[in-house]
Formats: sequence, C-alpha cells, structure tokens
Amino acid sequence: MAKFLVTGGAGFIGSHLAGELLSGGHSVRVLDNLITGLAENIPAGVEFIEGDLRDPGTVAAATDGCEVVLHQAAIPSVPRSISEPRPSHEANIDGTFNVLVAARDAGVRRVIYAASSSAYGDTLVLPKSEEMPPNPLSPYALQKQVGETYCQLFTRLFGLETVSIRYFNVFGPRQHPSSPYSGVLSLFIKAALAGTAPTIYGDGEQTRDFTFIDNVVDGVLQAIDAPQAAGEVINVANGGRISLNEAWAALGAIIGPLPAPTYGSPRAGDVRDSQADITKAARLLGYRPRKTFEEGLRETVEWARKAV
Ligand code: UD1
Repeated sequence: MAKFLVTGGAGFIGSHLAGELLSGGHSVRVLDNLITGLAENIPAGVEFIEGDLRDPGTVAAATDGCEVVLHQAAIPSVPRSISEPRPSHEANIDGTFNVLVAARDAGVRRVIYAASSSAYGDTLVLPKSEEMPPNPLSPYALQKQVGETYCQLFTRLFGLETVSIRYFNVFGPRQHPSSPYSGVLSLFIKAALAGTAPTIYGDGEQTRDFTFIDNVVDGVLQAIDAPQAAGEVINVANGGRISLNEAWAALGAIIGPLPAPTYGSPRAGDVRDSQADITKAARLLGYRPRKTFEEGLRETVEWARKAV
C-alpha cells in the first residue's frame, strides 16, 4: 500500500481525504501547523507532524518516503487575502513551492494540488471550463493560480506528475463557522440553527457551484492514479449553480421557517457567478458527483446540530 502525505490534513478537506485513504488501507502522514486546522480532525492511525509549510526543512522531512502528496494546506478566503495579503501569499505560494521542491527531491510519484475556482474570476460564459484564461480578482485567486502554474512547470521541467483539482465552494461536515472568513454555507447553517438572520453581501443573487465534500473526495482519489491527468488542471464540482438566496431558502426547507437575511454591501474581490463544466473530470478521472446539493446540505445540517 502506498504512503501518502496530506498537507493540511487537520483541516476540513484534508482530514476527509486522510480518513478515506486510511480506510483504504494506506499509510498516511499529515503535515499541519494547526493554525486553521484542528487536532481533533486528524484521524486515529495517522502519523502527525506539526509544522509549517513555509519551512523547507520541515516540508522535506514530511515528504521523505512518500509516494503521493495531497497538497491541501492553504490559508483560504478571498477577503482574508485582501485584508492580510502577506500571510496568505507566504502560505499559498511559498508553501506550495516548498512542497513541489520537496516532492521532486524525494522522488514522489504524483502531487495532487488543491486549486480553486476563484482563478476564473468573472467570465462572459458559464459554465467555466479549463481552457478559459484565468482572471484572478483577489490575491487568493492569484495565489491559487500561481500554484497550479508552478505545478505544471514542475511536470514539464522535472517530470514530477502533478494534478491541479479546482475546487468549487466545497461544504460539509467539519467546515467550522468559526471566523467571518468561513465558507458561507457554514455561516448560514449556524445562523439558521440559532434562528438568526445571516448577512448577505450584495443582493444574494450571486451564484456558486456548492460542492459537497464527498464528491470532492471522490475526485481527488480518482486523480491519484488517472493515467491521463498528469500536468492537468481539472474542475471538480457539481456542475450546477445556486444563488445565496436559494441556499438560504433550501435551509428553510430543511430546518423550518427562518428569518429574512440582512443585506450588506458586496464584498471586494467577489466573483458574481460560479459554475463548473465537469466534462474534463468525467473524461480524465471518471468523475461524477455522487451527492446532490440538497443531500449534502441535509448531512451538513445534521452534523452541525451536534458539532457547532
Ligand atoms: C472562493 C472560491 C472557492 C474557495 C474559497 C476559499 C470562488 C467562486 N470560489 O469562495 O472555490 O473554496 O474561495 O475561501 O471564487 N457571503 C455572504 N455572507 C457571508 C459570507 C459570504 O453573503 O457571511 C458571500 C460572499 O460575498 C460570496 C459568497 O457568499 O459572494 C461565497 O463566499 P465564501 O463562502 O467566502 O466563498 P467564495 O469567496 O465564493
């Protein structure tokens, strides 16, 4: 069985991936600095290294002996990257560079990189497909795009197989509404369960291709061995789009009558509409979304009733 390094394995997406790999009988190491991740998320049986991506020596030690790296660690959030651009630049660009160099030096077979739909920015056409030129509207979007370009360069120059999976607004259990920078659905669910009004930035008619975590885990695991995927950038999403107003109404259908949202000014750096073309993922990975938005939302509400 292969040995995997999951960077950011104490975080929302990384911990789900680590758990799934362990259940498949693989040996898993997690590198996480526990700044946004939680020790309690790390599945039992994982080898845990508490350390920071910005330190090349730490990343090299964590990568040593691994066949595959799932590089999930990042400082997420569009608005955080605008209010604090330096830490997000250092984690998302310098950290990714350190992972790629360490993977090349350790003879890693493949790196799967957590790329982001934010790289598309606003496009004239929906859905967004991988051949569209990137148009980042925030430091976060640019950092994520630089990471995937670096991945492709390492594939071309050094033969290190990399696959950049562009995530689209992932949600699900373990996504905590602990900061104003948290994913909007986690904040909506917290407000809905408390019976309070959420704040919507703008008119609430902006749309997102909200993707349940189980679907993302499928796509990433498929990318580990997919023969045609090396050097590619691939959307993994549901392929639909839902407005924030619709998402709040969908929560009302699950939880019961909810207060009307409070509307505020639109957020700087915000993309208006986001919807993925997932035909490339189907072709190269055999990917198909397993759970609908509504199924995912119900599971997330059930988790939040106990955990938040
Ligand atoms: C972006 C990326 C996403 C990535 C995430 C990482 C796009 C289209 N998506 O998400 O793939 O995973 O960065 O952080 O770029 N909002 C409210 N009220 C709130 C919070 C947010 O109205 O309390 C609004 C935001 O203004 C935005 C939408 O909800 O229009 C989604 O925001 P958020 O969940 O933060 O994610 P994105 O910035 O879309």
